[in-house]
Amino acid sequence: MTQSLLTSEKLTNFIGGEWLETSDTAAVTNPANGETVVRVPLSDHTAIDKAAAAAKKAQKKWALTPAPQRAEVLFTAGQMMKDRKERLARLLTLENGKVLEEARGEVQEGIDMAFYMAGEGRRLFGHTTPAELPNKFSMSERFPVGVVGIITPWNFPIAIATWKSFPAIVSGNAVIWKPATETPIMAAELASILEEAGLPKGVLNVVYGRGSAVGDALVHHADLQVISFTGSGDTGRQIASECGKQLKKVSLEMGGKNAITVMDDADLDLAAESIVWSAYGTSGQRCTAASRVIVHEDVKEKLEERLLQEIDKLSIGDGLEEANQVGPIINQAGMDKITRYMQIGKDEGAKLLAGGYALDEGKYAEGLYFAPTLFTDCTADMRISQEEIFGPVVSLIPVASFDEAINVNNGVPYGLSSSIFTTDANRVFQAQRDLDTGIVYVNAGTTGAEIHLPFGGTKGTGNGHRDSGVQALDVFTEWKAVYIDF
Ligand code: NAD
Ligand code: ALA
Repeated sequence: MTQSLLTSEKLTNFIGGEWLETSDTAAVTNPANGETVVRVPLSDHTAIDKAAAAAKKAQKKWALTPAPQRAEVLFTAGQMMKDRKERLARLLTLENGKVLEEARGEVQEGIDMAFYMAGEGRRLFGHTTPAELPNKFSMSERFPVGVVGIITPWNFPIAIATWKSFPAIVSGNAVIWKPATETPIMAAELASILEEAGLPKGVLNVVYGRGSAVGDALVHHADLQVISFTGSGDTGRQIASECGKQLKKVSLEMGGKNAITVMDDADLDLAAESIVWSAYGTSGQRCTAASRVIVHEDVKEKLEERLLQEIDKLSIGDGLEEANQVGPIINQAGMDKITRYMQIGKDEGAKLLAGGYALDEGKYAEGLYFAPTLFTDCTADMRISQEEIFGPVVSLIPVASFDEAINVNNGVPYGLSSSIFTTDANRVFQAQRDLDTGIVYVNAGTTGAEIHLPFGGTKGTGNGHRDSGVQALDVFTEWKAVYIDF
């Protein structure tokens, strides 16, 4: 039924309002069963040149369109996404594998972002300030940067695209979007929605292709003023280095090694449930996934027991079947990486309490599934406690005190999300102050951030910019100071 939602076997680029075929394509496979879902264009740099020319032309007019009118398009798009929510969620599960409930949640984030940014189109606040001198009026205002490139990963193929493209569009820019080749359907759906919602030709352009070809061409293109990237640290650093040479503004959202701390006074049932959802939901393939559990030694055994009970209850399988809670791993490279870390963990002396192997028999034979894995007795400096594995793998690290827990939480190269379970109000406020991540949760897991607050992280996770929230506008606007003497 879901496959039949697709109207074409082959997707096309969307440039200057035209849907354009390419000669070269690649198969997109459903990770739940290995079946080909659709074919995605593999474009080259000429498609980026074409998109840049279309975007540059369209942007001039779009920037002069009053912001409330630009907002109207996003508002209409939000309504359309709402009407098509189930269709979008099913197609998202088909290409990405995440279970339907999570796919619906992701589409909802996109809908929320549409309405939120439509609201910003009626604000886009600047400031007036008292001038130092008489008969002078001074104010500041935002203005669009011009043409922006957005590069997105496969793990949140529609939400992340809306976090970047909607603030860019509402503030008067034109966008060239390079989606991940694993998940091109969401890009085609979102482009169609924006086209139908009345976005002028050329304001959004979608160019599919490999990162090394199309992504690289986007980053190098002289007509782009901003690159907004979400993906792995290696790619982000490469992009930042090129943007640095060109003095091009770059926003980077990269990996995480997020921890949940469980103190001796915590509600252990709540903590165990939240850990399992944060760690194994989406098979751990979230930038915000909990991949470390820092536990006070006095409650370690009890927590382990509760975690094993919760892991046992998880139903793993094709995300299109409503009963399943955990879906597949995106591709074979992801499976291979996770498998490598099993050996690394054992060699480092961690004790395997659950999982540790691929699920590849019976109903799992055709898909890419990995058993929820729990290593215990880990130390904070082990590679499995330091490096992003991007799979359903948790390192449990015992600690003797609150201060030690904070140090362990902060002792990784990333800084996206962290969480603490405690019933002590003082510890809550200390943790809020001392946990060094961009997002902090108290008595909740590390995932599920909402779009009205800034999303992003510190240290190796990012370079100080934020997706979503009003702060997302800062990436796509410049400030102008205006003085009027009278
Ligand atoms: P990736 O870096 O392999 O790919 C991300 C995007 O970059 C894709 O569209 C890819 O085609 C493109 N790309 C690859 N090489 C490129 C190059 N040389 N030049 C330009 N573009 C290039 O990442 P991925 O495997 O798709 O995504 C998983 C990673 O994303 C994880 O590390 C995860 O933590 C991170 N992520 C971070 C956030 C966040 O907000 N911090 C959110 C989601 C995912
Ligand atoms: N909102 C998603 C999360 O926090 C990205 O996991």
